[in-house]
Amino acid sequence: MSVLHDKQILLGVSGSIAAYKVPFIVRLLVKKGAAVQVLMTEAAKAFVSPLTLSTLSNREVLTSFTQEDSDGALWNNHVELGLWADAMLVAPASANTLSKMAQATADNLLIASYLSAKCPVFFAPAMDLDMHKHPANKQNIDTLVQNGNHLIPATSGALASGLEGEGRMEEPEQIVSLLESYFLEKSPLSGKKIMITAGPTYEPIDPVRFIGNHSSGKMGYALANKAASLGASVTLISGPTTGNSLHPNVNCIQVTTADEMLQACLKEFSETDAVIMSAAVADFRPIKTTNQKIKKKAGLDALDLEPTTDILATLGKAKKGQLLIGFALESQDAMKHATLKLKQKNLDAVVVNSLADKGAGFGHDTNKISFLAADKKPVYYPLKSKDEVASDILNHLNEMFHAN
Ligand code: CTP
Repeated sequence: MSVLHDKQILLGVSGSIAAYKVPFIVRLLVKKGAAVQVLMTEAAKAFVSPLTLSTLSNREVLTSFTQEDSDGALWNNHVELGLWADAMLVAPASANTLSKMAQATADNLLIASYLSAKCPVFFAPAMDLDMHKHPANKQNIDTLVQNGNHLIPATSGALASGLEGEGRMEEPEQIVSLLESYFLEKSPLSGKKIMITAGPTYEPIDPVRFIGNHSSGKMGYALANKAASLGASVTLISGPTTGNSLHPNVNCIQVTTADEMLQACLKEFSETDAVIMSAAVADFRPIKTTNQKIKKKAGLDALDLEPTTDILATLGKAKKGQLLIGFALESQDAMKHATLKLKQKNLDAVVVNSLADKGAGFGHDTNKISFLAADKKPVYYPLKSKDEVASDILNHLNEMFHAN
């Protein structure tokens, strides 16, 4: 799957004959799974039809700040467009549009959206050779590069004027592959297969009752979603949770009991590069489970329990080069117990949670962790959102991949 899959691209088209290549850019991006929103200047409409681009992008092409529909005037919100995009591409970027971008002349929707964009911006100049090499134009290009935009340089060759020289817009395949390379570089976990467990497990007593715990799965889902957005191929093995949203590239396997989680983990393990075991697996299960609901009248004097299999320790014994990260939820002497778990379960690292910390652990949107890697000093973090904690853990994992 291309790294452009599910990326949201704002494509600004300005008035240049090179706009005839834009349908190919849109087609390639859409084929790779990107969502493309085309913005056109008035001048661009003379070179390529909005109908062609809206048909290929499957979205209405936007050309002005407002437009009429049956309910009256609609505002095309340039701020929202700028924030929506994962990347903006201005192709072709005419001399006029380059100048407006460099000077912040927000007199059309393309420029206003560019000025609002927080994402990386790529621009592909296209114009005749003398315009291209004019010092004023060169200065505008330099300004845009200094402002952090990514230049896709014009190439040399035959120009529409009949002249030969520098000023041709780069070919659509090259432009798309440049975008791909950019996102690949930003996807440090690309090519890695990561298995993450989340949520509680439920151990049945009878068809309606179970032994479980308060885990919401939020930490595991945050890890899975972040790992997918960093380019990893993610399998999430999740116990019963509700309300957690999932990145479209995460393959989620739902399980209920510790034994089902164990079987699912063992099935995936040999194909996996790293495991992050954030599930709160039940440590005990009833020895006997009845098929019929236990009636209140019949009474229940005692519930005999047996330990579940320690999934992480099982994987620790079986591992052949996979990196194993466990969680340790402790109420006292957190570092001492976590160090013991690290050794006993043959782990590469442990994420330590202390029940003594406010805002950490089950149910919260925040967590406070320490990261303890084998033979390393622990790294202590302040209270953060679970999304930020997921980033911290995956940064460590990325370093561990590179150290291996
Ligand atoms: N774990 C597991 N299988 C179990 C129990 C726990 O894989 N049957 C994993 C958890 O997902 C976590 C790690 O082991 O990554 C540590 O879990 P924790 O509950 O902190 O510790 P335990 O090993 O269960 O020990 P204790 O409850 O005595 O602290």
